[in-house]
Amino acid sequence: MSTSSSLILQLAAALLCLLLHSAAATDHIVGANKGWNPGINYTLWANNQTFYVGDLISFRYQKTQYNVFEVNQTGYDNCTIEGATGNWSSGKDFIPLNHAKRYYFICGTGGCFSGMKVSVLVHALPSPPKAALAGASKGSSATASAVVGAWDVIGAVFCGLLTTWFGFVLF
Ligand SMILES: *[C@@H]1O[C@H](CO)[C@@H](O)[C@H](O)[C@H]1NC(C)=O
Ligand SMILES: *[C@@H]1O[C@H](CO)[C@@H](O)[C@H](O)[C@H]1NC(C)=O
Ligand SMILES: *[C@@H]1O[C@H](CO)[C@@H](O)[C@H](O)[C@H]1NC(C)=O
Ligand SMILES: *[C@@H]1O[C@H](CO)[C@@H](O)[C@H](O)[C@H]1NC(C)=O
Ligand SMILES: *[C@@H]1O[C@H](CO)[C@@H](O)[C@H](O)[C@H]1NC(C)=O
Repeated sequence: MSTSSSLILQLAAALLCLLLHSAAATDHIVGANKGWNPGINYTLWANNQTFYVGDLISFRYQKTQYNVFEVNQTGYDNCTIEGATGNWSSGKDFIPLNHAKRYYFICGTGGCFSGMKVSVLVHALPSPPKAALAGASKGSSATASAVVGAWDVIGAVFCGLLTTWFGFVLF
C-alpha cells in the first residue's frame, strides 16, 4: 500500500472512531461554563439534557467555599445533609451515575439555600442483546436505544483495534 492511501485509511479510521466515541458515555458538567455556584437555576440546566446509566456528572467549583453531597429527596428539598450517601470536595469531582434512578446533589456549606442543588433522572440504557430482542417485538424506540448501546460496544472494540493496527491511541 502506498504511503498516501495508508494515510487516508488512517484518517478515515480515526474519524469513524471519533464518531463512535461520541455515541458513548457523556460527562455532564453541572452548570456548563458557569459551574457549581450560587444563583443558578440547575433545574433548567438538568432539563436541558438526558442522563443515561454510565454517564458522569461533574462539579467544578472553588473547593475552599463549596462542596457536593449526595442526599435523598428530603435533603434536596430542605437543604440538609443528614443521611447523605456521598460527599466530594476536590473542586473538580467526577461522579458516576451507575443506577437508573433520580439522584439529588446539594452543596453542604450553605450554598444550597442559594440554589446550589441539582436533581437528575438517570435513564437505563438497555444492553445490546436484550435490547435487540425487545426491539424486535416492541418496535422503533427500543431499537433506537439498542443501536446506541451496540455502537458503544462496537466503538470500544474498534478504537481498541486502531491502537494495535496503527500504533496510536485516540482516547
Ligand atoms: C427554576 O426553573 C424551574 C423551571 O422553569 C422553575 O420551576 C423553578 O421555580 C426555578 N427555580 C428557582 C429557584 O427559580
Ligand atoms: C440548553 O442547551 C443548548 C444547546 O446545548 C444551549 O445553547 C442552551 O444554552 C442550554 N440552556 C440552558 C438553560 O442550559
Ligand atoms: C422539610 O421541610 C418541610 C417544609 O419546610 C417540613 O415540613 C419537613 O418536616 C422537613 N422535613 C425534614 C425531614 O426536616
Ligand atoms: C432521607 O434521609 C433522612 C435521614 O436518613 C430520612 O429521615 C428521610 O426520611 C429520608 N427521606 C426520604 C424521602 O427517603
Ligand atoms: C463524607 O464521606 C466520608 C466517606 O467518604 C465519610 O467518612 C464522612 O463521614 C462524610 N462526611 C459527612 C459530613 O457526611
